[in-house]
Amino acid sequence: MAIGYLQRKASWEILLKVSSGTFSDQALEKVLKSYQFNALDIAFITELSFGCIRYRKFLDRWIDHLSKIPHQKQPPKLRWLLHIGLYQLLKMDKIPFSAAISTTVEVAKKTDLKGLTGTVNAILRNAVRKIEQGNTPKISSDVIEKISYLESFPLWLVNELVNWFGIKDAEDLAKAFNKKPSIDLRINPIKTDLDKFLKVLIENNINAEPIKSLKNGITLNSNPRSIKNLPGYNDGLWTIQDRSSQWVAPLLNPKQGEKILDACAAPGSKSTHLAELTNDNADILAVDRSERRLKIIQSNLDRLNLTSVKTLKADATCLLDFNPNFISHFDKILIDAPCSGIGTLSRNPDARWSLNKDKIKQLIILQERLLMSLLPLLKRGGLLVYSTCTICPEENNLLINRFIEKNDEIQLDSQKQILPKLDHHGDGFYAAVISYK
Ligand SMILES: C[S@@+](CC[C@H](N)C(=O)[O-])C[C@H]1O[C@@H](n2cnc3c(N)ncnc32)[C@H](O)[C@@H]1O
Repeated sequence: MAIGYLQRKASWEILLKVSSGTFSDQALEKVLKSYQFNALDIAFITELSFGCIRYRKFLDRWIDHLSKIPHQKQPPKLRWLLHIGLYQLLKMDKIPFSAAISTTVEVAKKTDLKGLTGTVNAILRNAVRKIEQGNTPKISSDVIEKISYLESFPLWLVNELVNWFGIKDAEDLAKAFNKKPSIDLRINPIKTDLDKFLKVLIENNINAEPIKSLKNGITLNSNPRSIKNLPGYNDGLWTIQDRSSQWVAPLLNPKQGEKILDACAAPGSKSTHLAELTNDNADILAVDRSERRLKIIQSNLDRLNLTSVKTLKADATCLLDFNPNFISHFDKILIDAPCSGIGTLSRNPDARWSLNKDKIKQLIILQERLLMSLLPLLKRGGLLVYSTCTICPEENNLLINRFIEKNDEIQLDSQKQILPKLDHHGDGFYAAVISYK
């Protein structure tokens, strides 16, 4: 079946769900369940719908350029369908203009936008005329506004990126966040090894290769229909985990027999990694305050057949209040803190629109409380790793430097910020290694 109207309709339905508060990946999963699409269709739908979500501001500016009615006043269903049409015209090189318009108009015709079919057709045809004339929305001479429009980020976030990294890097970061994220796997070395598993993937016609900097990392070079249907998932041969995230657990240098606390553990990518690195012979406690997310850890442990991790539902900031025996109890502690997730914006296309400065402030308060309240649980001579998937310095090095200054008994062994790059597929991550003297 050729890529046609149905794939555009599914993409539009994803936008409708995201606009009513569903996360992009969940919206994609839900919508795909009601269709029988193949891997190529799914790649197209993902590219189109996630692209529209990322480029919301850019596409709205085009609606304002093309229609007398500004985007805020358009009926929402029409606004999202215009995004579907415009994204194909403006950002997808391989789609002929005629196909983009006819299939998008067909979505209007066959849904409750029937009465607006003429409007969709007229606006998209007008877009083609303007593209061909080079008549684009006016670009501000202010560099921050320009990045905000062209890369489609809220102004406050571009301002922050520029404050943190300067204009050039801010622009590169914004571009990197608009790229398709990689799909990385972490091999479970207790059950298989990298070469063996790569062979299995190749036998199943899955194009994959090792990630150079990682012992057990593999990246997929194309989108499978469903990741969980790849060979070995149910047998616990691998876990899906971004390459930057795979860098964190080894920083604890975990050893068999050690008592290790993973204080913000769900869904368990790092707890399971710690268990694998210790041949399932450490004593790992995975704490999370979310019951629902703790269940995901347990199902991952069951699938990977790991028994050295115990789960506990608790607020990690008051763990000691309910477990006084935990004082100076752990050899290693991982605080993979709740954070703004700015490092993962390419993976979470809607996140740039829901985040704000107040949310970040609240997170910083929680991050500081986690550090202060969990330090007493560490043994003398023990190691604490604090990590986040953000690139916001207030949540990372600035917070850690303050923490170190306040506590004479600890020292910063190392800290590193990974920034997403245009040629480096991987999330932005930060980690600090702290030892208790
Ligand atoms: C960044 S995620 C952790 C990801 C996880 N370490 C992994 O690699 O799969 C942060 C987690 O912290 C949990 N969390 C937030 N506040 C918490 C608190 N006060 N105590 C315990 N867990 C908390 C959230 O429920 C969320 O699951």
